[in-house]
Amino acid sequence: MNHKMRTSLELILLLAVALSCSSTGAKAQATAQGTYTGATSADPWWKHAVIYEIYPRSFQDSNGDGLGDINGIISRLDYLKDLGVDAIWISPMYPSPQVDFGYDISDYEAIDGQFGTMADMERLIAEAKKRNIRVVMDMVLNHTSNQHPWFLDAASSRLSPKHDWYVWNDGKPGSGPDCHEGRVPPNNWRSIFGGSAWEWVPAVHQFYYHEFYKQQPDLNWRNPAVEKAMDNVLQFWLDRGVAGFRLDAIPSLFEDAQLRDEKKTAGVNAYGDPILSREYTDNLPEDHVVIKHLHALMAKYPDDRVLIGETYLPTTVALDKWYGGADHDELNLAMDMLLGFSNKFDAAVFRKYIEEAETQLHGSQPLFVFNNHDNPRALDRYGDGVHNVEIGKVLATVLLASRATPLLYEGEEIRMVTTPPARREDVKDPVGLAGWPKDKGRDSERTPMQWDDTANAGFTALNSTPWLPIPPSYKTQNVKTEAADPDSILNWYKSLIALRRANPWLRNGNHVLLDASNPNILAWIRQAAGGHAVIVICNFSAKEQTAAFHLSERGISAGHVRALLKTTGQENVSSLNAVHMSPFGVYLGEFEE
Ligand code: GLC
Repeated sequence: MNHKMRTSLELILLLAVALSCSSTGAKAQATAQGTYTGATSADPWWKHAVIYEIYPRSFQDSNGDGLGDINGIISRLDYLKDLGVDAIWISPMYPSPQVDFGYDISDYEAIDGQFGTMADMERLIAEAKKRNIRVVMDMVLNHTSNQHPWFLDAASSRLSPKHDWYVWNDGKPGSGPDCHEGRVPPNNWRSIFGGSAWEWVPAVHQFYYHEFYKQQPDLNWRNPAVEKAMDNVLQFWLDRGVAGFRLDAIPSLFEDAQLRDEKKTAGVNAYGDPILSREYTDNLPEDHVVIKHLHALMAKYPDDRVLIGETYLPTTVALDKWYGGADHDELNLAMDMLLGFSNKFDAAVFRKYIEEAETQLHGSQPLFVFNNHDNPRALDRYGDGVHNVEIGKVLATVLLASRATPLLYEGEEIRMVTTPPARREDVKDPVGLAGWPKDKGRDSERTPMQWDDTANAGFTALNSTPWLPIPPSYKTQNVKTEAADPDSILNWYKSLIALRRANPWLRNGNHVLLDASNPNILAWIRQAAGGHAVIVICNFSAKEQTAAFHLSERGISAGHVRALLKTTGQENVSSLNAVHMSPFGVYLGEFEE
């Protein structure tokens, strides 16, 4: 028996056991819609969903223009269904000058022609629904494009009714490079993307504030008309059946009313700007009033529409506020950027953040994420370059066997690698142009999805030019080869997702960390009332490890554990008093009653 066949059989057998042993639970979970909403059927769908981010420019092109589109997404829905995805969040597809690739919106209630039409979008929602996949829209509330009619109007005259929809200031007397008509910006605020955060408009003799590019003016959320306009936008999409929104850069909504200078911390960033504390431009108390309002608006719709926040915050306690703390009346899911962006493949660090998510969120549902379209891919941050496949399986296990809702980004399931542009002239993302060579920008994690090993990787027609080059890794690292290899990352993701769906304890159990002081092993149980549990054990080291788990105080006798899923070469667990873990080994087992 060759190595691959043995692995394949092992996986099939383990999954068969998993599915059969949990069949009672799975039956109990089926609902009228045919989705799995869990034994606790009162739970909102997003509590048990696997969410998958699609960067539409790079997912699948259907018309040979080298740019992904809605019809391309539709053609790949069966792939997503097969992977086990319950919801897709799609980065913005609204009309946009594309300065920030869609995050500069010029019309919130339409679809950009390069992605398709509104009819295509409606078909996507309907086709996804047929497969029990929900569609979550990206929603940019902090800013619009400077080509949005609101801003064109606002910037044309101080007397325009829209003028106060944006953040304007007369500036103060001064001189130097940012000086216009003898006036300089009112404070030291810098754009996240480099340079001053204030841009002068001669027609109104004022500066406007932009947290991101100057083509992305910030809306003035102190003006009630802005909230009203955005309510209409959300309702427009909710009425079309979207399952909710991923709120872009949401902690940036408000700025300090007194426009106080930010404190400087040590050093400069890739753009040569001082690094500021952002205490007056980020995470202000006023933000929460708006989020509570949006929460109430969503609640008027059936089917548990979801509010997901892009929440880069310094602590779990800060994250909790975005859920509304004990009131649970703000975001439904707030991205936990601490675990997935700590960039430390260290069992103790992982344990700390998981423990915090379990204990500091007032019981709200955590949302774990390791990859997105703004950061180098996780394996280039957590991998050691030698054992990346194995480390990828450990990360996937943390993501998919935890209690948190998992958020995946296209390509992570086939181990796509960060591929920076080779030359400055190849850079598409203005962040890379401004930060070159220190920061080569975000093209690196936005390269087209690698579907197969044909030229253009199946992303676009053979004779087309993809908008970003296909990384050389496509020849071996693609959906087709990964699907055929039973030991691949893709099949590991699929197996974990299938198990998460089928096994009631993995699906609904609480999350109890074990062996809190072990520096190499991260282990936990997912346990339901009555003691039944699944144990998950991950070896974070390149060396064999032996661990012991004492679970009697949790109502679990050290009896027999049946393997549900394990990595190749990982032995079965025969005694919890001495569990042998292979290097980077992963073991998931269920306690026999
Ligand atoms: C978010 C998006 C990012 C965008 C920025 C400004 O961070 O994920 O891609 O550039 O907001 O909208």
